[in-house]
Amino acid sequence: MSHRILLLGAPGAGKGTQSAKLADEYGVEHVTTGDALRANKEMETEYGTPKSFMDAGELVPDPVVNEIVKAALEDADGFVLDGYPRNLDQAEYLSEITDLDAVVLLDVDEEVLVDRLTGRRVCDDCGANYHVDFQPPEEPGVCDECGGDLVQRDDDTEETARERLEVFYDNTEPVVDHFRDEGVLVEVDGEATPDEVFERIRDVVEN
Ligand code: AP5
Repeated sequence: MSHRILLLGAPGAGKGTQSAKLADEYGVEHVTTGDALRANKEMETEYGTPKSFMDAGELVPDPVVNEIVKAALEDADGFVLDGYPRNLDQAEYLSEITDLDAVVLLDVDEEVLVDRLTGRRVCDDCGANYHVDFQPPEEPGVCDECGGDLVQRDDDTEETARERLEVFYDNTEPVVDHFRDEGVLVEVDGEATPDEVFERIRDVVEN
């Protein structure tokens, strides 16, 4: 059976970490608006470039993001979606274009989120995710998987991370309510090791 899973949670809640594991486990696409936008940061749109919004910690305009998600989901036979929807309009649009089997909200305290974001390092070549304290690479600054350089994302400075958290708290409560009303939302405590959190999500998806 091909799964259609949505992961919700604040910046740093572990959506990227868990989506990659879930996509591997179930052999489905990992669709993430953050990565798609980072890959197209300089794209000119009628609203400006995605980069201009992302570097300020703001949301990229809905028409740009909706288009990316629609195209990605149309091509996928099962998916784990992460980073979308971020507001009620996006949530309503998503409900129009697909059905979901599971919606998981990862719950993590705000100060833990800031620590996770500011300590995150990402491989410049393969995109693998690390944390300087919680998931360090074997050799500092070097990716275990491909030997690439580990870098900090432009928006993982403390100032922009806090701005992103504000945007999340302002916009996401209606998204959570939307899926709660549809009867598909399950909350999972995201404060445990990545493997423990993964087991909790797998329980939800399979039961
Ligand atoms: P996006 O890339 O989606 O970022 P985000 O939602 O801010 O989420 P993150 O990637 O920061 O966190 P995550 O939950 O994936 O955490 P991770 O697993 O890496 O969006 C970036 C920007 O793009 C937005 O600000 C916006 O401008 C734009 N954008 C994207 N989607 C949009 C949309 N739909 N509409 C409009 N604009 C949009 O984990 C974080 C760190 O913690 C890592 O270092 C990891 O190693 C560590 N970690 C993970 N799990 C654990 C654990 N259990 N214990 C300890 N450490 C852990």
